[in-house]
Amino acid sequence: MSVCRNLDKLARTVIELAIKLHFIIWKRRLDTLKEVLKCYDEDPFDYGPADEILVKYQGQKGTMIPILQGIQEAYGYLPRQALEHTAKQLKVPFSRIFGVATFYAQFHLTPRGKNIIRVCQGTACHVRGAAKILAAMKEQLNLEVGGTSEDMKFTLESVACIGACGLAPVMMINNDTFGRLTPDKLADILKEF
Ligand code: FES
Repeated sequence: MSVCRNLDKLARTVIELAIKLHFIIWKRRLDTLKEVLKCYDEDPFDYGPADEILVKYQGQKGTMIPILQGIQEAYGYLPRQALEHTAKQLKVPFSRIFGVATFYAQFHLTPRGKNIIRVCQGTACHVRGAAKILAAMKEQLNLEVGGTSEDMKFTLESVACIGACGLAPVMMINNDTFGRLTPDKLADILKEF
């Protein structure tokens, strides 16, 4: 006589339920796994702009910096996916690309605002009150240097000299230069953007 026949009805029901439960748990795990894999398959990142730049420099040596500059120009910063993709395409370790991207101040690894504000803190601007301009700008935007506003409208940076010392204190917003600044002029300037 088999073991099953010896089990009373209740024990059998319990075992059947346990088996069902086991399958349900595993099914859920499998479903979760499928979802995760789906996310990988449907990586929404647009590799097109990165590929265009990689094709442009294909076969050329010593092009890592221009490639990164191009990618940053295309995306506004250096997205992790684009860096990983570049490492794969150039057949170099990701750590090397990441090392270059983090070494140079010109590269940014996080999204930046639509408008980049660069407040000069060079010597000529410093002696004409650049620190006050920067402090007032921080207050206006409620940002620290390097910060980006929540609406992604502004990123605040400080720079050493932008070559317009005669107009000190100076700042740039994108490609526009604003000179002979005073803290009370800032709000009106910001309204233009
Ligand atoms: S020091 Fe500010 S523009 Fe030169």
